[in-house]
Amino acid sequence: MSKEFDVVVIGAGPGGYVAAIRAAQLGKKVACVDSWVDESGKPKPGGTCTNVGCIPSKALLQSSEHYEHAKEGFKEHGIEVSSVKMKIDQFLARKNTVVQQNNDGILFLFKKNKIDFFSGRASFDGKADNGRYKIAVEGKDNAELTAEHVIIATGSEPRALPGVEFDEKQILSNTGALDIPAVPKRLGVIGAGVIGLELGSVWRRLGAEVTVLEGMPKFLTVADEGVAKEAAKIYKKQGLEIEVGAKVGGVKKTAKHVTVSYENAKGEAQTLEVDKLIVSIGRVPTTEGLNAESVGLKMDERGFIEVDDNCQTNLANVWAVGDVVRGPMLAHKAESEGVAVAERIAGEHGQVNYNTIPSVLYTSPEISWVGKNEQQLKEEGRKYKVGQFPFLANGRARALGDTNGFVKVIACADTDEVLGVHIIGPQASELIAEAVAIMEFKGAAEDIGRICHAHPTLSEALKEAALGVDKRSVNF
Ligand code: FAD
Ligand code: NAI
Repeated sequence: MSKEFDVVVIGAGPGGYVAAIRAAQLGKKVACVDSWVDESGKPKPGGTCTNVGCIPSKALLQSSEHYEHAKEGFKEHGIEVSSVKMKIDQFLARKNTVVQQNNDGILFLFKKNKIDFFSGRASFDGKADNGRYKIAVEGKDNAELTAEHVIIATGSEPRALPGVEFDEKQILSNTGALDIPAVPKRLGVIGAGVIGLELGSVWRRLGAEVTVLEGMPKFLTVADEGVAKEAAKIYKKQGLEIEVGAKVGGVKKTAKHVTVSYENAKGEAQTLEVDKLIVSIGRVPTTEGLNAESVGLKMDERGFIEVDDNCQTNLANVWAVGDVVRGPMLAHKAESEGVAVAERIAGEHGQVNYNTIPSVLYTSPEISWVGKNEQQLKEEGRKYKVGQFPFLANGRARALGDTNGFVKVIACADTDEVLGVHIIGPQASELIAEAVAIMEFKGAAEDIGRICHAHPTLSEALKEAALGVDKRSVNF
């Protein structure tokens, strides 16, 4: 006997579980199916984000930052710590506890919202006579579901280098990189993107010599050039070796080492010998096992499920959100799409503003941005004004002892509308929220400058940068 639902959500990552909750809040009868389980077969909803992404990486970033502060950072405050010991087992155990709390939290939310959760792999199984989609679940739970609407939120998985398989012991994806049992002496990273920089930072702080090989000729091309330059300078000072323009040729492993052969930016043949290698060169959408062909679901040439601006696929009442569709692979983008789709299904006007999705790198210093950067505006030929304010001139940053970086506000030269905000410095991940709100309301640099910001706070740096757009910063 099949079980009937208004909405079946496939995948319980941030896209899927949030879509399921919003649909249930709007009165729909909802099921959510997810295949992630631990070694004992226990369900672990939350997807990449909760299990091997956002949450565990931030837990380890926090522990490693505490360790580095205890070793180096307290001295200037007059605190002497005679011996600092690292218990890597405890780091990993704490990280696993944080993950488990999030898994349990999602199961609790499913119950609270009366969502039927199925643990297993879901696949399309054709259509029932009444036109509803049939979804087969295989795994811990085996079931046949039918649904009027299906939301696909199956996420993504790490991209491997051609011919170089992840063994998660020596050649690591993000999964293995979050679970290294002892600090490697030499750690190699291929790809100086978000994962490479965040996880490279974790292991550097804990004592590994980290070398990052980046294929592009420039560093961090996704960020504003000024921010990327500042970041490269600071990471170098911290001891993170980053080599750009590296063309990786092959990877060989022996019982103890991994050797990467590559051509450097000058075209010279090089080798890098390391104890462990993280490969973080992007992610690919997960569609395997969905049996999408059976219903004629369209993919694009890169394997993403094809959707329109409303996350509607080529099939009526089949939607797709998050990493499995175009756009940035970010948890908050997946969540926003999940909410919007649930609202559209319920006849409301779900909306996602793709121009105001913030990006954050949780390294030290943190980096965040929203909107356009200078390179993009130049390419578009738009006239703009820039205000920049260094944290060195911010009282709170000085009191914290964390004065690296700056805030840059870019505004339209004619209208003063904020077009982009770029931050490198303490708490950049939190500070960006104000910029997102201002841009959502199409605010001007002058609006930020006129808002009363508490003193002494880091947020005053955003206000000062906004005033700087018209060359009237007060403290710089
Ligand atoms: P996922 O989270 O990948 O979830 C998909 C779920 O669907 C999984 O549980 C999967 O098992 C399940 N599934 C797949 N196929 C099926 C099937 N056929 N049947 C049933 N279930 C299925 N983003 C941020 O915004 N901030 C961060 O700080 C951040 N840090 C990250 C750190 C790392 C190391 C990594 C790897 C990623 C990070 N991300 C971060 C990206 C973020 O994790 C993803 O953008 C987000 O998880 C995407 O959500 P999703 O719901 O689309 O897919
Ligand atoms: P990424 O796209 O951020 O970076 C990949 C890097 O690898 C790029 O700089 C690229 O030029 C480089 N590269 C690609 N192929 C290469 C090759 N063959 N040799 C050398 N360099 C190569 O991808 P990453 O770091 O794997 O992360 C995947 C996704 O996960 C990101 O796109 C991001 O959306 C998400 N994520 C988000 C985080 C956050 O929001 N803080 C943290 C971690 C991941």
